Amino acid sequence: MTRTILLTGGAGYIGSHTYVELKSAGFDVVIVDNFSNARADVIDRLAQITDAPVTAHKGDVLDRTFLASVFARHPIDAVIHFAAKKAVGESVEKPLDYFETNCTGFSNVLMAMRDANVFNVVFSSTATVYGEPQSLPYTEDHRLAPVSPYAQSKVTCETLLRQLKDSDPRWTYGILRYFNPAGAHDSALIGEDPNDIPNNLMPYIAKVATGELAQLTVFGDDYDTPDGTGVRDYIHVVDLARGHVQSVAKLLDEQDTHVLNLGTGTGYSVFDMLRSYERACGKALAYQIGPRRAGDIDCFYADPTTARDYLGFQATRDLDDMCRSSWNWVSRLRNS
Ligand code: UFG
Repeated sequence: MTRTILLTGGAGYIGSHTYVELKSAGFDVVIVDNFSNARADVIDRLAQITDAPVTAHKGDVLDRTFLASVFARHPIDAVIHFAAKKAVGESVEKPLDYFETNCTGFSNVLMAMRDANVFNVVFSSTATVYGEPQSLPYTEDHRLAPVSPYAQSKVTCETLLRQLKDSDPRWTYGILRYFNPAGAHDSALIGEDPNDIPNNLMPYIAKVATGELAQLTVFGDDYDTPDGTGVRDYIHVVDLARGHVQSVAKLLDEQDTHVLNLGTGTGYSVFDMLRSYERACGKALAYQIGPRRAGDIDCFYADPTTARDYLGFQATRDLDDMCRSSWNWVSRLRNS
């Protein structure tokens, strides 16, 4: 029997790519999104990629009546919860907003699940929960030391899941701690396209490449890394999306709770990313060296072995694939 997955935040960057991978793995998928950080045409584009109509409901995870109506309409087997705010800097300015959307929103989803007798959930977490590295690579048992309200909101949700399972063994969950998602779908029909000035490195470089922004500011070149710039574990968004498919299948097939890093295990510097993007777009990209950004860590990357051993998860795409697919996406968007 075909199984149905509800994606909260399914119209967003990671959610939309996960939609495509779930469909191609044979799942039925229902999207819920308030479209606050999604393109209005993403649903049409998902229909184009998958060559099938898309089931999507516009609404907010803060609206419990809305959530109950979605569960009443569809035979949902599991939920993948993406719907959340994700800008670290903004969370410092607006901790209440982050608590409300990320924590209250998630508890609303869990209540709607409980009321509908759905007990399988994959939760979108982040490597930021680890904070300042005590050792690298980060393993899943590294201590959690959230620095920002954003990171704290993810730790709070992870804790809630553990407490819920302790209270009722019918719950099974997969907590996926993402490293740095980058790149776009091969079709160049979906990808990341922030309206405002991007906070993150790849979307910023993409806007320099399209000419929308004049130059990249490299936040510090005196870190304790090979070239002095910050090192991160960038993971192609399609690899990340496939990790969700494997996680939800594991929950449904084996009722097995898990907490996993989703990364590649390889760190790349800001200059590595810039050079790779220059190769992708075929031109030199302007940059200047600026001061360090408050709160940045010099270097972090995943130990990906637990996800590999447990799920068989392995990222197959490298930094050049991420930059090439990003450039295909943004250049096609600007020319359409
Ligand atoms: N950087 C620049 N210039 C920019 C933007 C970023 O030099 O304009 C540098 C940063 O200093 C850092 C690297 O590029 O060294 C990556 O920065 P990002 O902002 O792209 O990513 P972060 O690692 O800071 O954080 C991201 C997300 C978090 C998430 C975390 C998970 O923003 O939400 O990855 O690893 F939690």
